[in-house]
Amino acid sequence: MFENIKDQFPIFKNKIKGKKLVYLDSANSSQKPQAVIDAVNNFYTNEFSNVGRGIYTLAVNASEKYETTRLNIKKFIGANSETEVVFTKNATESLNLVASCFGEKFINKDDEIILTELEHHANYVPWHFLRKKKGAVIKFLPIDHNGDLKIDELENLITSKTKIISVTHMSNVTGTINPLDQIISIAKKHNIPVCVDGTQGAAHLDVNFDQLGCDFYAFSGHKMYGPTGVGMLALKYKWLDEFGPFLGGGGMIDFVSKKDIAYARGVWKMEAGTMPTAEVVALNEAITFINNLGKQNIINHEHQLTQIALEKLKNNNAVKIVAHPKAQGGVFSFNIDEIHSHDVSTILDQEGVAVRGGHHCCQILHDVLSINSSVRVSFGVYNTSEDIEILCESIKKCQKIFKK
Ligand SMILES: Cc1ncc(COP(=O)(O)O)c(C=O)c1O
Repeated sequence: MFENIKDQFPIFKNKIKGKKLVYLDSANSSQKPQAVIDAVNNFYTNEFSNVGRGIYTLAVNASEKYETTRLNIKKFIGANSETEVVFTKNATESLNLVASCFGEKFINKDDEIILTELEHHANYVPWHFLRKKKGAVIKFLPIDHNGDLKIDELENLITSKTKIISVTHMSNVTGTINPLDQIISIAKKHNIPVCVDGTQGAAHLDVNFDQLGCDFYAFSGHKMYGPTGVGMLALKYKWLDEFGPFLGGGGMIDFVSKKDIAYARGVWKMEAGTMPTAEVVALNEAITFINNLGKQNIINHEHQLTQIALEKLKNNNAVKIVAHPKAQGGVFSFNIDEIHSHDVSTILDQEGVAVRGGHHCCQILHDVLSINSSVRVSFGVYNTSEDIEILCESIKKCQKIFKK
């Protein structure tokens, strides 16, 4: 669909082991278009200054660009004036911010947190900290044999002790797209805030924060064609008032004396110390890149690639797809009979094919699926049906080597 789009990504000019690069690991991190790389380079070359501090020309310009990205991120995820976007270093930090600040104030002994069996460790470990620190209880909404959430069981998990529900928008292993509208409407009935791990959603799915009505949406710049080192947390403004600060230091204060400290209000309370300035500025180019392609076109493109790949792999009896969710984005995982996922990944690399083998930071999900690892294929806008041909041929080569 996106003809010649690889030309915008300089990495595809390189060969891997003498072969053309077939990059099928965008769920891990996406490749970067030239415009994003140029924006980082230009900022350091011509415009560099820290933000939110100096009042000289360079500092004012840098601060303006930083805030422009914030505004554009808000538009990008459909957030209104009652919503804010805090910059962090990645989605993991955004989720830690929510768990830490929410937990500090609202979680006490025996209070319950509902997660799902699909969660990445980034949306489990921070809540586990609260289990350890506060004696909270974590409950998991289970999945069915297709890899879909058993949404009918959510009501039964909720009790008067349930304080928050935190759920991924899309699984980074099965590609399951969760029915957030249903989850949020059930949660709202019980007055329970919902945190969405949008790490796999932001660049690949339709996101409208206001329409969804969740309280928090966490995501990472590097998975949406932007730089590493910058993450986002969209949150309803009221939480910024409710929460204490996450990290302490420069930039997050209003007033400091030997006796006491008053914290800054709004997003600045949460942005302590020097932020990933060049990364935030360059992220603006990533948003423009996605907007120019059009979200719906991206969704269609990745959906189509997934269907083509799954159809082709059906013809290979040794390939076992780990889940068949009803609504699936551009991600799926598989195993080949009696070949470890790391071996598959290593052999595919010989063919220039980059896929991830392992548990993809989802050990609970792998336990539930009764497997210890899997090979993951995840698409980005630059992938083509030719990439899928090469993947399928490389899998056959791998089987030949292992005689499977
Ligand atoms: C669903 C999901 N949540 C959270 C994360 C963590 O993202 P980051 O490493 O950018 O913090 C990932 C990374 O793969 C993910 O796939």
